[in-house]
Amino acid sequence: MNPILVAERVNKTFGAVVAAADIDLAIERDSVVSLIGANGAGKTTFLNMITGYLQPSSGRIRFDGRDLTGLAPRQVTRLGISRSFQAPQLLGTLSVRDNLRVAEGIAGSREVEAATDALLARFALAPYADRAAALLPEGVRKLLDVAMALVTRPRVLLLDEPTSGVAADEKFDLMDRVMSAVQGVTVLFVEHDMDIVARYSQRVIAFYDGRVIADGAPAAVLASDSVRRYVIGESIEPAREHAAA
Ligand SMILES: Nc1ncnc2c1ncn2[C@@H]1O[C@H](COP(=O)(O)OP(=O)(O)OP(=O)(O)O)[C@@H](O)[C@H]1O
Ligand SMILES: [Mg+2]
Repeated sequence: MNPILVAERVNKTFGAVVAAADIDLAIERDSVVSLIGANGAGKTTFLNMITGYLQPSSGRIRFDGRDLTGLAPRQVTRLGISRSFQAPQLLGTLSVRDNLRVAEGIAGSREVEAATDALLARFALAPYADRAAALLPEGVRKLLDVAMALVTRPRVLLLDEPTSGVAADEKFDLMDRVMSAVQGVTVLFVEHDMDIVARYSQRVIAFYDGRVIADGAPAAVLASDSVRRYVIGESIEPAREHAAA
């Protein structure tokens, strides 16, 4: 394995809360990995430590061999790591095209118009180009949010709940579009829908109370006792019983 991202004994505490406990992980280049876990398990905290938004209390994170410890978010972005947020960060009154233009401008793109057109095409967003971001259907907003995260041409893309707030019958279409648009990029995505996890990830990492409690192929992780108990919950049918997955 030739990992692009490595976490070494990463810990993070907020007062008495342990949001990350001895996390040791290596993410393979060009893989698609999902992070699962109940509310408060530490998924977003882990992404925040990768992007430099939070610093680990101890331990280190390496990107392509380079230690990210102490770097500010914009420095991490410049190295090639980008993210979308749990709540899309868009300029609601601006059109889809203008949101992308602004993002391309901030990213220092020399060919803002061409790059914007390319992203509109890549994400099949052209039909929505002139619509205000605030008026988009949620699935399209999420798609735009991912497109915005690509303006910096990342090699690692972190997606925090890309399908949250999207109607169940639109989630697969959204993820199909996202995954086809981000080919060649290593993707780490946080997801609560186990059907999406089973369909789109090559590897699943399960968190509970800041710890990794399972890590491996989707079928094995989703069927494991600890994941069924601490992530999926006894009352919810495990994803493997759904034909769609
Ligand atoms: N900036 C912060 N200050 C204090 N506590 C925090 C902070 N960020 C996260 N926490 C706490 O750390 C724990 C992990 O939170 P985190 O947001 O990483 O969970 P999560 O797995 O993303 O949950 P969710 O599925 O609800 O988004 C929680 O107990 C949370 O309250
Ligand atoms: Mg979260």
